[in-house]
Amino acid sequence: MSAPPNLHFQDLRPPAADFRAAVLEGLGRRPRSLSPKFFYDARGSALFDAITRLPEYYPTRTEIALLRRHGAEMARLIGHDALLIELGSGSDVKIRVLLDALRPRAYMPLDISHEHLWRSARAIAADHPALAVHALCTDYTRPFALPAAVLGLRRAAFYPGSSIGNFEPAQAQRLLRAIGALLGPDGRLLIGVDLKKDPARLHAAYNDRDGVTARFNLNLLERMRSELGAEVDPGGFRHHAFYDAEAGRIEMHLIANCAQTLVVDGCRFDFAAGEGIHTENSYKFDVAEFAALSAAAGFDTLQVWQDEEGLFSVHGLAVARPS
Ligand SMILES: C[S@@+](CC[C@H](N)C(=O)[O-])C[C@H]1O[C@@H](n2cnc3c(N)ncnc32)[C@H](O)[C@@H]1O
Repeated sequence: MSAPPNLHFQDLRPPAADFRAAVLEGLGRRPRSLSPKFFYDARGSALFDAITRLPEYYPTRTEIALLRRHGAEMARLIGHDALLIELGSGSDVKIRVLLDALRPRAYMPLDISHEHLWRSARAIAADHPALAVHALCTDYTRPFALPAAVLGLRRAAFYPGSSIGNFEPAQAQRLLRAIGALLGPDGRLLIGVDLKKDPARLHAAYNDRDGVTARFNLNLLERMRSELGAEVDPGGFRHHAFYDAEAGRIEMHLIANCAQTLVVDGCRFDFAAGEGIHTENSYKFDVAEFAALSAAAGFDTLQVWQDEEGLFSVHGLAVARPS
């Protein structure tokens, strides 16, 4: 299918050399770690979508239910006719719930996963012919420019999925501050935030019975093989995820079942049995904790929506006026 006329697609995806450099650096340090942004090649994105449909994975369906129930209030908070920037848009499921209520002048989905973004942006543009869709494939943790066509519009952002929890608190604060700077003085941000809860519920969400999360985690090793020509046996590693109540975060690791050697670009990384790579943190918050984090990053909390069980929250924020 060709691109609809209202779709503008900019491909500024990070070069393959970034992944190579991150792998060499991340495997060379102790403890070994990699950013979760590297999960998302085409297969990783498809596996993440499969995770969102799992019975154990409460965040997606709970957040979507909040968007359905409170979409009109959220739209009042965001206002109409804005440029709506979606960070880490993934598949277009969540924004579709809000688009009719938000009525933005232009929509700018941003994602690092090229094929996934292309497919979802094309579908949104085809289904909303009057909406200008400016998709940008990039790493949103790096500075990026807005296209000239949208520069005059008031700005709002949607950052769902509690992806903010993937960052260390200080990094999360820096990223939120950068989002505030991008949005400007009248900026509004709607952000999904996963809440602290019974550790058993969290454990189940990241250790599903069908092993989809395990395949998602192990796909990082497959990606090293296919994109970097790495010598590695993904079958020699296993998925390990647990909730660290003190740190308030889920940790995901890839653990060597027995002694393993991974070779990238002639560099050899030896793993003893039980040694691993830390692949993701997912911080969980209390509502007040997140309000404090966003205040420290220069936002006022205007409204917070959460489900009856207190599983998930959506925060409506405004860029604070300088005092
Ligand atoms: C956890 S998924 C969430 C997807 C969707 N927003 C949702 O709520 O279901 C994270 C999404 O952000 C994208 N992503 C992760 N890190 C990114 C980065 N640094 N820059 C741009 N996109 C990123 C991934 O490709 C993926 O689509």
